[in-house]
This record gives sequence, C-alpha cells and structure tokens, in this order.
Amino acid sequence: MKKAYAVLLIVVLSILGACSNNEETAAPEDKKNVKEEVIDKELEEAKAKFEVLGDIPVPADNTMTDEKIELGKKLYFDPRLSGNNVQSCMSCHAPGAGYGDGMAKFIGFEGFNGPRNSPTIINSGYYDENFWDGRAGSLEEQALGPIQSEVEMNQNLDELVIELNGVPTYVEEFNKVFNDKISADNIAKAIAAFERTIVIADTAFDRYLQGEEDAISADAKDGMKLFAGEAGCISCHAGPLLSDQNYHNLGMSGDDGRFAVTGNEEDKGKFRTSALRGVAHTSPYMHDGSLETLKDVVQYYNEGGGNHSNKSELMKPLNLTDREVDSLVGFLESLSGELPKAETPKIP
Ligand code: HEC
Ligand code: HEC
Repeated sequence: MKKAYAVLLIVVLSILGACSNNEETAAPEDKKNVKEEVIDKELEEAKAKFEVLGDIPVPADNTMTDEKIELGKKLYFDPRLSGNNVQSCMSCHAPGAGYGDGMAKFIGFEGFNGPRNSPTIINSGYYDENFWDGRAGSLEEQALGPIQSEVEMNQNLDELVIELNGVPTYVEEFNKVFNDKISADNIAKAIAAFERTIVIADTAFDRYLQGEEDAISADAKDGMKLFAGEAGCISCHAGPLLSDQNYHNLGMSGDDGRFAVTGNEEDKGKFRTSALRGVAHTSPYMHDGSLETLKDVVQYYNEGGGNHSNKSELMKPLNLTDREVDSLVGFLESLSGELPKAETPKIP
C-alpha cells in the first residue's frame, strides 16, 4: 500500500513539475509580448499629443508675392536701415547663425552691449506675439522696433524714407509691389513677407507624425515619450508650434521680462515659451543666452530650473538619468529640420 502511494505521489509530483516547467519556459515570451504592447501603446499615446505644423499664417492686408518677398529680402540685408549704415537686420539674424547671431547677448549700435539674446527669426511668423516678452503684435509691428531702437539700429524712420527715396531701384520696386510710395509701413510689410518665408516645418519629426515610422530614431522616440510624459515639457511646449504662446518664469533672474509689458507683479521674470522646430540651429539658448547647448538646456530643466521667487510651479527636479537626458536632446534634434537658405541679395 505504502509503495502504491509513493508511486502515485511521484506521478503527481512529476505532473506538477512538468506543468511548472512548461510555465517557466512559456513565461518569458508572454511577458516580452505584453511588454512590447505596453511600450507601443505608450508611444502611440505620446505621438497623439503632437500635431504637424501647418502653413504659416499670412495677414489679409499683407499677402505674399514673389516681388514683395524679394524686396523685403533686400531691405533685410541693407545696412541703410541703420542710422550709421553699418548694421542690417542680418547683422543680428544671420542665415549662417541660424538666423540669430550665435552670441549670448547682442552687440548693438556702435558696440552697445545688449541685455538680451538675438532670437532666431525662423518660424517667428507663427507666433501671435513677437519678442521674448511678446511686446509686438505682429512681424509688421516688430520690424520697425529695431530700426528705431537707439541701442540697435538707431535710425529715424522719416530719414530712412528719404534715404531710400534716393535709390531709384527702391522707388521703382515699392511702386511695383505696393502701387504706392516708400513708407515705413511698406518697409515693414516687405520685410515681414520675407521673414514669413524663413520656415522650418518639414522636419523628420513631422514626417514621423505623418506616418513615416522610421523617420526618427528609437532614441528620439524615447525622448518624445519623456517630453509628452514624465518630463512634462508639453505642459508649456504644446500645440502645433510646440509653444503654448504663453509666458512662464523658469527661475532666471536679472530681467523682468513680461512685467515690462503688463505691469503685473505676477509677470515678473516671465518669457514667452519658445517654439522648438529648428532649435538645434539656434544656440545659445534662452532670453539671456545663458545656456550653450541643448544638453545644457535639458540639464537646466532636470535640476528644476533656477531660483526666482516667481518661478513656475511646473518647474520641479525631474530626476532624469543621463540616458534620458540624451534621449530628450535626440528628440529636440529630430524636430530641427534643415536650415532655410537665403543667399545675400544684390543691394541696390
Ligand atoms: C543689434 C542686433 C539686432 C538687429 C540689428 C536687429 N535685431 Fe531683431 N532682435 C534682436 C534682439 C536682441 C531681439 C530680442 C529683443 C527682445 O525680445 O527684447 C530681436 C527680436 C527680433 C524678432 C522677434 C522674434 C521672436 O521670436 O518673436 C524679429 C522677428 C526680429 N528681431 C527681426 C528683426 C528685423 C526684421 C530687423 C531689421 C529691421 C532686426 N530684427 C534687427 C536683435 C537685433
Ligand atoms: C513652465 C513652462 C515650461 C516647461 C515645463 C518647459 N519649458 Fe522649455 N521654455 C519655456 C520658456 C518660457 C522658454 C523661454 C525661456 C527664456 O527665454 O527665458 C523655454 C525655452 C526652451 C528652450 C530654448 C529655446 C531657445 O531658442 O532659446 C528649449 C530647448 C526648451 N525650452 C526645451 C524644453 C524641454 C526639453 C522641456 C522639458 C524638459 C521644457 N522645455 C519644459 C517654458 C517651458
């Protein structure tokens, strides 16, 4: 009897053993499949939070024509626009420097040391408000700012109109393009039309959003997930432009930013959220040019930003690993696209 029980026990145990063995060999594959599905779902969810960047908006009273764009380009490159005929728009927004100047802060009229970084003009026509603090409502409005600014081009607009009237080619071209005389308004319109051609919209990331799965690397995809998830970048860098077009304080001191425009205490140290397409071309970064590389920028966020009594509550240490920091940089690079070309025109 005892022997029979023992045999039965062995049989039962071996069946159990076989079962558990089967489970063990089956388990890793099942787990792997489940994991891959989870990752894909996370990726798809992240991807769904982004939108491609459509065409640049064009104001109804400043339609784009080839001739207007060409005229605007000449003006953009023409040092006559400054009081001493030395600096043009190009001096601080040079095609070869990502349409910025590559310096932390600008150097203005007769060597003036500027307080802020020259931002890129790439995609600047997509913003509702221009400048780091949003004090201009359009590119047309913006263009006349630097021309007159004592510390930038220091040019009187009436004198500029007289000066350009002395150049027959300009008189002819303004007449052709606007059916009108040379005026400050028309100068601004032509320059703005040219600026609206300096666009980066067709990036690897945009192609990925449109279904080209391999357009960006696995690393950039990891970065995208972090951007839209754990790292919280999308709280501010949202929508097709990757900017909420709002103003935030990241903890940088020494410049009151948006406060100068609104006079509201709560706007102290706030700046407009930067759009990010093309960003790899436009170092150094931030309104004060204090961050040299994209890695420096991501590290700045990783540490929770700087110290300012008005710092956004969204700025918290992120505890990202080195690999995750690099993935975020990879993602930023994937939406950088190609630098638009602008050959120096013949100045009349
Ligand atoms: C001396 C350097 C300098 C010159 C010359 C200059 N800019 Fe700028 N530009 C800047 C700086 C600095 C800012 C940012 C100022 C701020 O936000 O307070 C800026 C801002 C801008 C912006 C806003 C971009 C945005 O993100 O909203 C545009 C557009 C622009 N400039 C176009 C021009 C045009 C057009 C000209 C010529 C008429 C010109 N600039 C001449 C330095 C310069
Ligand atoms: C609280 C809102 C907010 C969050 C969150 C945020 N940003 Fe920003 N970002 C901004 C603002 C505002 C600026 C411009 C700040 C300035 O110039 O001082 C900016 C600037 C940048 C710039 C520099 C652009 C340039 O041309 O100088 C990069 C790159 C950037 N952010 C990437 C990121 C990444 C990556 C994350 C997530 C780790 C992130 N941001 C999270 C608001 C935010």
